[in-house]
Amino acid sequence: MSKGKFYITTPIYYPSGNPHIGHCYTTVACDSIARYKRMQGYDVMFLTGTDEHGQKIEQNAKAKGVTPKQYVDEIVEVFKKLWKYMNIDYDRYIRTTDDYHVESVQKIFKALYDKGYIYKGEYSGNYCTPCESFWTDSQLDENGCCPECHRSVKQAKEEAYFMKMAPFADRLEKLLTETDYLRPKTRALELVNNFIKPGLEDLCVSRNSFKWGIPVPFDSDHVVYVWVDALSNYISALGYDNETFDDYDKFWPADVHMVAKDIMRFHAITWPAILMALDQPLPKHLAVHGWITFNGVKMSKSLGNVVDPFILGERYGADAIRYHILREMALGADSDFSNEIMIKRINTDLANGLGNLVSRTVAMVDKYFGGTLPEDREHGDFDDELITEACALREKVDEYIDLTQINKALIEIFSVVSRANKYIDETMPWVLGKDETKKARLSSVLYNLLETIRIVSTLLSAFMPATMPKVFEQIGASAEEASYDNAERFGVLPLNVTVKKGAALFPRIDIEKEIDALNEILKSSAPKTEEKKPEHHEGKKPEGVAIIGIDDFAKVQLTTMKVVSCENIKRSKKLLKFTLNDGTNDRTVVSGIAQYYKPEELIGHTLIVVSNLAPAKLCGVESNGMILSADCPNGDIKVIMVDDVPAGSTLR
Ligand code: ME8
Repeated sequence: MSKGKFYITTPIYYPSGNPHIGHCYTTVACDSIARYKRMQGYDVMFLTGTDEHGQKIEQNAKAKGVTPKQYVDEIVEVFKKLWKYMNIDYDRYIRTTDDYHVESVQKIFKALYDKGYIYKGEYSGNYCTPCESFWTDSQLDENGCCPECHRSVKQAKEEAYFMKMAPFADRLEKLLTETDYLRPKTRALELVNNFIKPGLEDLCVSRNSFKWGIPVPFDSDHVVYVWVDALSNYISALGYDNETFDDYDKFWPADVHMVAKDIMRFHAITWPAILMALDQPLPKHLAVHGWITFNGVKMSKSLGNVVDPFILGERYGADAIRYHILREMALGADSDFSNEIMIKRINTDLANGLGNLVSRTVAMVDKYFGGTLPEDREHGDFDDELITEACALREKVDEYIDLTQINKALIEIFSVVSRANKYIDETMPWVLGKDETKKARLSSVLYNLLETIRIVSTLLSAFMPATMPKVFEQIGASAEEASYDNAERFGVLPLNVTVKKGAALFPRIDIEKEIDALNEILKSSAPKTEEKKPEHHEGKKPEGVAIIGIDDFAKVQLTTMKVVSCENIKRSKKLLKFTLNDGTNDRTVVSGIAQYYKPEELIGHTLIVVSNLAPAKLCGVESNGMILSADCPNGDIKVIMVDDVPAGSTLR
């Protein structure tokens, strides 16, 4: 009998380039949760897809000399191929160019207009083409650039439709601060302070400067803003305002929308506001994860094919990649990708941990009992501890899955794997095997190991779906025995269970050789033409920075300076103006941290300053240097303070 419904979604990805490991994370995470929920007996809807409209796609297609549809069709095939390769078992794949979605979006837009939430006006403002977003002056970063990607914005003016946001401000604030919609909740404050408290601005919901979009139903000069189009996918895919599907009443509201932090705002503010305006129930949870970074910066295509999931998958298997990315990423924090960490993780957890446990156990049943355990048993030391831990595991994993904390679920599972390996050392089956009078004890030890493996691999099958059936085969577990229902009890396998030796589940990797091989691939697959480097701005991470030599680093002069005075800059919500002293001279430095510190909190402290940065004018004030601060995983910004170091010291 069904335990109820469960609806989970990934973002719908832009098919503006091939998918990479970053896209894999969200999709694999949602797939694993969907599989786990199915295993628990829920009726699951797992939705993914592609977001195919917008100026960027139109421009890319033009550059390639094909129509936008031809352009996206080709890339969508690569996404689908990758999901197949990674064993992604989605229930529905939406393309925003699908007719039923177009129909829904037009009806949604019309409904919002008829209800009086959408009105026609004129937009003149700062437009970021890559992000397809208009930004108000106050939203721009301290360099007057896009607050999302930190590239330059251009002035754009167009007749446009707007959606009123003010009517939803109070409800949105409550949603973010008083419910557990947003995960991790620590990010609520930044949204409330940056967007809601200053007064929610009306959302521009149409464009007329390009054509590749869904036409506004009652004004064909305009296309629907790509985010209204995209966000609506979560309900159009269920049949909201279309006849193609009929699952809206069953599956809405979504149980989990999972996204990375770059699109949190659209899911935490824009999407709930649209649903409120439509009088529809709100999704239950928005799980926000960090980025997979490479050398600390967001992964980008320019880094080459080693982060191409197809190449990694071919070398280690899709399951090893799935495991690695799921285990590394903690909800809300970034996770730095490195080939070395990945290989070490595969060796430690999968080859030495799980793989070894299975192969040793099966080999011993084979060696001492010809593959079939005798039915005699003898309880002994260490058994109870192992059995208790194994039986308690399912409940812990259930809890972490419900909290969308997959890495923690995996940590719990692998702690039982370690416990079982330790149990082998404690019970020393190879000693028992030499003593004819200890056969019953030996049989018990091996049975306990097989049972622990059964429980662990049943739970792991949601995360590593290709490998676990091989484990079941080796330990002689039937589908029924390896079911979720049986994963919290011991004594499920028959006493006289028969095992079947098989190939190593995860062959050990020679780290040095493998790193060399990957470096070779990296060299040979590096992009031939150099991708345009994003502009570097104070305090912002450029995408895909290169590795630098010590000489490059030596060009940066870092000096400690004491804050003599600090004040807000009137025209800016973000900037603070500092007078800093380096032990001899004063200088003025402007820094975009006003939302994180009050001026008086910084006066008297000693900070680290990039002291040889070319002067730049910010809001009319000349800044001579840059104050170092840390982007913390919870979204906070912390200035680095070194009060015990004298001002004027040089850092090296
Ligand atoms: O934003 N690390 O599409 P998108 C982790 N179409 N996750 C990453 C990542 C990385 N380095 N790079 C991408 C869009 N992602 C819109 C979404 S939804 C209604 C519309 C994942 O192709 C992550 O899930 O830029 C992020 O939220 C998503 O890809 C953005 O994909």
